[in-house]
Amino acid sequence: MAGLIPQAFIDDLLSRSDIIDVVDKRVTLKKTGANYSALCPFHKEKSPSFSVQPERQFYYCFGCGAGGNAIGFIMNFDQVDFPQAVETLARDNGMEVPREQNQAAARKQSEHAKIYEVLERASKFYQFQLRKHEQRAAAVDYLTARGVSGEIARDFGIGYAPPGWDNLLAAIGSDAAEQANLLKAGMVIEKDRSKTEDSAAADSSTPHYYDRFRHRIMFPIRDSRGRTIAFGGRVLGNDKPKYLNSPETPVFHKGGELYGLYECKKASGKHKRMLLVEGYMDVIALAQMGIRNAVATLGTATSSTHLTRLFRLVPEIVFCFDGDNAGRTAAWRALESVLPLMEDGRQVRFLFLPEGEDPDTLVRAIGRDAFNARIAPATPLEKFFFDKLSQDLDVNTIEGKARLSNLAKPLIKRFPQGVYGQLMLDRLSSMLGVNKESLQQLLVDKVATAAAPPSVAPPFASSSQQRSGAGSNRSSANGLAAYRKPASLKAIELLLRNPEIALHLEQDLTPLASPLATTEDESRKLLLSLIQLVRDEPSTETFTMLGYCYGTSLGGQLTQLLKSETITPTEGLEEEFNQILDNILSEIVRTMEHLQLKDQLNSRFGATKD
Ligand code: UTP
Ligand code: MN
Repeated sequence: MAGLIPQAFIDDLLSRSDIIDVVDKRVTLKKTGANYSALCPFHKEKSPSFSVQPERQFYYCFGCGAGGNAIGFIMNFDQVDFPQAVETLARDNGMEVPREQNQAAARKQSEHAKIYEVLERASKFYQFQLRKHEQRAAAVDYLTARGVSGEIARDFGIGYAPPGWDNLLAAIGSDAAEQANLLKAGMVIEKDRSKTEDSAAADSSTPHYYDRFRHRIMFPIRDSRGRTIAFGGRVLGNDKPKYLNSPETPVFHKGGELYGLYECKKASGKHKRMLLVEGYMDVIALAQMGIRNAVATLGTATSSTHLTRLFRLVPEIVFCFDGDNAGRTAAWRALESVLPLMEDGRQVRFLFLPEGEDPDTLVRAIGRDAFNARIAPATPLEKFFFDKLSQDLDVNTIEGKARLSNLAKPLIKRFPQGVYGQLMLDRLSSMLGVNKESLQQLLVDKVATAAAPPSVAPPFASSSQQRSGAGSNRSSANGLAAYRKPASLKAIELLLRNPEIALHLEQDLTPLASPLATTEDESRKLLLSLIQLVRDEPSTETFTMLGYCYGTSLGGQLTQLLKSETITPTEGLEEEFNQILDNILSEIVRTMEHLQLKDQLNSRFGATKD
């Protein structure tokens, strides 16, 4: 690997080069006052709206919103990536680019490597026990009874953790370093020291750990590259907890992983769709019956990470849920998290299973072909969407229509811009008996938005419902797109217009820094960075901030936003910003509390001695 380019070098390089030279080499610049202008090289135009500001070492196009520093310009103009642009600029300045191995990154990498290694060895150990351990019969019988063939057991790396407290420990944890790795990998648990402290036995010769998994069928959870990152362990009978899972470790983050993804990729060529099921055994039973495109979440709700991963592989996802109330509630939650990802060409279906069945029992009962025959006609997202929203309403009455419209609008706004969202709007307008244009007008009408009832507000949706106060009278032409903007993006926009706001904040911003806050909405991280930027350097100006944003994935969107509203009254801006920030913060805190509660429940459930 080439190694990282040290930040100090980039700073030095930028301070030594002049953006005017860089641009002028590629585009003919004309001096206009303190700045330079040109026809924009990034979009077609007749009169120049491209400007370069030597003082700020920044370029910006008022026509298309392109903007950035010298490196950004080279990236855009020469169509090269960041390191190549740095190389180019360095060469022009007679400098050589040094490379460094980031020490922290290197340390992390080697720590991870050790964890992967110990997990791989554990997986081999468990598989070996399933073949050779003297008490393996119970495990083998259990798998046989559930119809798991040797071939599938091999494909999925199924193993057996024998009874006893230190089988794994003895096999692959002979010294302190290995034991430490096992602990980091979540495979052993530290003994309660308070119980051993007073006895002389608490010296280094006594292991301080015991095996987490005992007398369980072991399912290795692999990442998409096939590396074992965790395990799920099932009891052989009906004891509780049924499954014990590895804890979160540096290499395992339960909320985003999909069980069976690697096996699915390995087993066969291209799939058109993927099935998302709930259990390990569902994936295995489906595979056993020849349905190799099923994956499972790991006992967590479907997250946008799960969905994004699946949509990278296939254009269609079929959720399999129980047909009961709990299943339908879970399906609705999944629907909410998938809305923002419904780009054109993607489809989502819901397969509701008969009461009391899961995919495992169903496929075994009716066979592969009959199971497959249920998938293609499974309920499409749009049908589930409108069925669910209108289920307790009489859409023939004015009240029913008003209610449906209020329920549907905030959700339809969450679709990305495109045909799908428009089709949903068409459907809604025909159900309401109003034309689409006036409906679209309603969508950008802030009063109508504020009326969205909280009962259907998805956990992260308040972002789309917070448009209020000054500067929100956007024209309806791109109504849908304007409304998808997360609250934090709106806050960034306000901050860019008036950086000083950041100096007067009284809120406690720590929730914004939590990883949880940024997984659903990356613009929150940018918002926090910008606030810090201004606090560190109070004279920070809009262009500097734009330059900062430029390197992020939101850069383009932000420059577009600023371009679209050039004249905005500044009065009320600070209040609006504070209001939005308060909402974002309390939303994060709420989500955190919710997750904590869930975690507590889970750990109580999972940590019971088996
Ligand atoms: P299920 O109980 O539906 O799992 O839980 P399953 O795979 O159908 O189990 P079998 O058929 O009884 O063997 C769904 C998922 O929830 C998680 C596991 O990921 C499981 O596959 N779970 C369930 C746990 O983590 N712990 C539990 O105690 C139960
Ligand atoms: Mn099951």
